[in-house]
Amino acid sequence: MKPKFKGKHFITLEDWQKEEIDALLEVSYDLKKKFLNNQPTEYLKNKTAFLMFFEQSTRTRNSMEAGIAHLGGHGTFLDTSTMQISHGESAKDTAVILSSYGHGIAARNCFWGIGNRYLREMTTHATVPVMNLQCDLYHPMQGLADLMTIQEVKGETENLKVSVIWAYAESHKKPISVPVTQILLFPRYGMDVTLAYPKGYELPDWVIEKARENAKQNGGSLTITHDIETAFKDADIVIPKNWGSWVSNQSSDVIDDTLTANRHWKCTEELMKLASPNACYMHALPADRENEVENVVIDGPQSIVYQEAENRLHTAKAVMAMTMGDK
Ligand code: CP
Repeated sequence: MKPKFKGKHFITLEDWQKEEIDALLEVSYDLKKKFLNNQPTEYLKNKTAFLMFFEQSTRTRNSMEAGIAHLGGHGTFLDTSTMQISHGESAKDTAVILSSYGHGIAARNCFWGIGNRYLREMTTHATVPVMNLQCDLYHPMQGLADLMTIQEVKGETENLKVSVIWAYAESHKKPISVPVTQILLFPRYGMDVTLAYPKGYELPDWVIEKARENAKQNGGSLTITHDIETAFKDADIVIPKNWGSWVSNQSSDVIDDTLTANRHWKCTEELMKLASPNACYMHALPADRENEVENVVIDGPQSIVYQEAENRLHTAKAVMAMTMGDK
């Protein structure tokens, strides 16, 4: 495998041409096949990546750590609260020094107004690829795995009706990075995307404008509704998931009046009946079960959440192999 994108940062899929994303997916499919067939994939033999986490993670941390091991390299998990970052060490110094110890830096920093700026600052000073493991604005690893899963399940993506739907949750005030990534990416693959949310959970205006531009250039569309039933009606894929009211209210309080007024925004068996008979239910996980979604849906036959989560491994490996490899 040729590491076609050696040194290229992976901060948002908006920085990657469609042909480049297709190349990442092609490698993801190949790595998936090889993993399932127990074939060796030592494309990153003796390479190291530093995996910095400002927040909790299950899928992202473990897909990266397991993934780099499958590729013959080593991932160092870094809880940033135990690094000198917690004493104020700069993004620049951290990026320069970690670059000198290895071949890639990956970071999750979801703090509103900070995360993406932190990653961008690292890209200015790092001499190795910097990979975004989720920031306040984007979650490109999730977007790539979601796209792979949709292709696997539905084949052609043109004119597929995909609904990205806000859902009620009490677990934590989730970043907007998953829906932002999805509504920017899916229209580039010709999908007809419906974005649904109750008032107060707007995404930034520039995201909506860019998503519409992406749709126009690629034959997809973006429609916004504040009616949950409209969002489910005839959809091929539904993605009901919570995100916080960061755009209108930057408080990190999880529960407020706007949230509790929208408790009925839940993915139910009844709502699923409005979707296409072959509709699939997706969620990046973790899901706030019985708040965002009824167990009968997430555990039911229309749910593809475990396939979606598994694909995080194969896509993470593709990104690392293509940006960090050298043979
Ligand atoms: N979907 C996702 O990013 O999961 P984690 O928060 O567990 O990494």
